[in-house]
Amino acid sequence: MPLVTTTEMFKKAYGHYAVGAFNVNNMEIIQGITEAAMEENAPVILQVSAGARKYAKHVYLMKLIEAAVEDTGVPIAVHLDHGADFEICKACIDGGFTSVMIDGSKYPFEENVELTKKVVDYAHAHGVVVEAELGKLAGIEDAVNVSEADAAFTDPEQAAEFVQKTGCDSLAIAIGTSHGAYKFKGEPKLRFDILEAVTKLIPETPIVLHGASTVMPEFVKQCNEYGGNLPGAQGVPEDMLHKAGTMGVCKINIDTDLRLAMTASIRKYFIEHPEEFDPRKYLSPARDAIKDMVKHKMRDVLGCSGKA
Ligand code: G3H
Ligand code: 13P
Ligand code: ZN
Repeated sequence: MPLVTTTEMFKKAYGHYAVGAFNVNNMEIIQGITEAAMEENAPVILQVSAGARKYAKHVYLMKLIEAAVEDTGVPIAVHLDHGADFEICKACIDGGFTSVMIDGSKYPFEENVELTKKVVDYAHAHGVVVEAELGKLAGIEDAVNVSEADAAFTDPEQAAEFVQKTGCDSLAIAIGTSHGAYKFKGEPKLRFDILEAVTKLIPETPIVLHGASTVMPEFVKQCNEYGGNLPGAQGVPEDMLHKAGTMGVCKINIDTDLRLAMTASIRKYFIEHPEEFDPRKYLSPARDAIKDMVKHKMRDVLGCSGKA
């Protein structure tokens, strides 16, 4: 099974479940995620940020992902996460990625359209699909002031116009999630009404949810018990993510939960084995923690187990 684009994955998933898009930075993370996908018989998206490319180098990540394809046989899409400009998208398209995100959400509407269209034209000419973004993910500051937060949510009419003008293959929208471990100050709330309005207007377009880590309390607790300090961290409840997966959200992005699982495992290992200095000793349980986390997401949250 070679690397795949997300087109078929999303066609099968639309309205039924979501495919997990997990951020990768090194071999242990890639192995943990793809072994989970193999055991769950699930499709999977491995996404690479600009920071990950800088840390590990494009060629290393690409070769590791190719090894994972050979080793596991599951359908894997390799995706650029939050591409900031045309140049990084082009480098990833030329360098073998099957999907790129152009994130023009920080620009005014027309500039975002122009930039996205340029990436779409280049990507489609090379058999690569494009995720774009409209609306700004709320930060914890925005959540305090409702009118400010409201202004950052995606406007459904604009979303329809944006997709029609750019020809993007999927669209990331802002309905209340945010990146990192601190997503909500009070009660977690997602604007399912906006999601519903968007999918009514553009039912052919798979929707993407960024900032979708749950920040599971047991991992925050484990980090803190073993010397960490993560006060009041709070993520998106699992039932909300599951619901989004039945409403046209086809791709759910998860990074923070993997970071927490890996870090909690390593912290625990060093407290329990202060004499140890063989990296394989502490990276093995860390890789297993990633694998367990991803299996849980696929089976109990996203609903993509058995759908490879
Ligand atoms: O949305 C961002 C992802 O969590 C990637 O984070 O840019 O630190 O690699 P990063
Ligand atoms: P989290 O920080 O919630 O894991 O979101 C990751 C993400 O959206 C990557 O693009
Ligand atoms: Zn994101």
